[in-house]
Amino acid sequence: MDTYIAMTKYVSATIGDQPTDGSLPIVQGTMGPAGVDIQALYSRHGVLAFDPGFRSTASCKSAITFVDGDEGVLLYRGYPIEELAEHSTLVEVAYLLMHGDLPTAVQRAEFDRAIGQYNLLHEQVMSFYNGFRRDAHPMAVMVAVVGALSAFYHDVIDIRNPQDRTRAAIRLIAKMPMIAAASYTYFMGRQQRYPINKLDYSANFLQMMFGLPTSEYVVDPVLARAVDVILILHADHEQNASTSTVRLAASSGANPFACIAAGIASLWGPAHGGANEAVVRMLHEIGSVENIPKAIARAKDKSDSFRLMGFGHRIYKNFDPRSRVIQAQAKKVLAHLGKDDPLLEIAIRLEEIALKDEYFVERKLYPNVDFYSGILLQAMGFPLNMFTAVFAVARTTGWASHWLELQEEAHGIDRPRQIYVGQTLRHYPKK
Ligand code: CMC
Repeated sequence: MDTYIAMTKYVSATIGDQPTDGSLPIVQGTMGPAGVDIQALYSRHGVLAFDPGFRSTASCKSAITFVDGDEGVLLYRGYPIEELAEHSTLVEVAYLLMHGDLPTAVQRAEFDRAIGQYNLLHEQVMSFYNGFRRDAHPMAVMVAVVGALSAFYHDVIDIRNPQDRTRAAIRLIAKMPMIAAASYTYFMGRQQRYPINKLDYSANFLQMMFGLPTSEYVVDPVLARAVDVILILHADHEQNASTSTVRLAASSGANPFACIAAGIASLWGPAHGGANEAVVRMLHEIGSVENIPKAIARAKDKSDSFRLMGFGHRIYKNFDPRSRVIQAQAKKVLAHLGKDDPLLEIAIRLEEIALKDEYFVERKLYPNVDFYSGILLQAMGFPLNMFTAVFAVARTTGWASHWLELQEEAHGIDRPRQIYVGQTLRHYPKK
């Protein structure tokens, strides 16, 4: 039987109270819920906080991204995601996330120059790709290649030096499009193209993905802008699984490239970044509007492991603001390309039906960013297994910014505790 304890025994402070009775202090941010500082819980009271899944745990203070899941609000450094998606670029957003403010014209020019300086991959890194099977998943290749970069840039990074840290973050952001593109061109058996510095970040990503060595790649500005929007929307999302993984790895002082490789591994799962790929697979499986009720029934059936991919979110209990922007982009790109994707029709109808269904309403399950992003990526020609790799390119800006923020703190290694439920002491049998 569970035993219960009155919270007041442990937490009797309100904001502004001084702890007089063993109560714990409240930590207040600038927006969002306050936290109870339980760092002294164990030393004062001999108990641990138990929160598997971290549903009620703030693992750190952060000034980068704010999410209000009830209101469907997402801000990067205070700027609404919708405004950034409309007016900004991935490179400007990367600067904003890293440095806290939008760049001036001079800062922007310097940042662009640095991206252009560091966007090439060492030729020995390129030869690294040849060790993979041709059909390797791009995320598997990216985990390995980004991790391998720590072998190229270890001795040149002193993580106590702010300049070295910034350079490492820019190197990561700059190299990511080529790393992702090369995992695709290797699979295609095509020679990898180099970045072209007169092109911007997203246009470059497109030409490195789809350009042929035999002809000039003409960048379609509508597609380049759509890529930029996708990258902006996926750039950061506070302490999600992959970002927390990066921070945890970084807390030991590990090499930044190794930390980002850990983030890529975490992102890959279908409950996280892998959902965009899973959504398109699901929509194909549903096949037509007539089959939607059957899919909804399966998603509600607890004996069936099927879930509506692209629906639900740990934090958003309202519309994910990114899903609206992505849906509009998907429609725009399909119209621009003169394509009529039946998957979009299925997705829109599925959303309509699910949003009226009691099961989804009660549980506050709304479409998330991944519900439409796969349709958009597919329309632009990205193969299914590259969807999460595109997400990784975008999220590198957020991971790098969190890595930088963590280096400014001095709280030591992250080391969660556990509630041990194994065997009590027993002795090795005497022979
Ligand atoms: N389809 C059907 N039922 C669902 C779904 C879904 N997509 N999502 C949640 N539920 C149900 C769940 O079964 C549970 O029901 P009950 O209360 O009866 O047990 C209830 O809703 C609460 O779900 P939960 O599993 O406690 O929610 P969570 O916060 O642990 O999980 C989630 C969030 C995103 C992992 C989950 O909603 C999910 O698996 N969604 C599908 C995968 C997906 O789209 N992931 C992308 C997330 S956004 C991008 C990113 O963060 O990387």
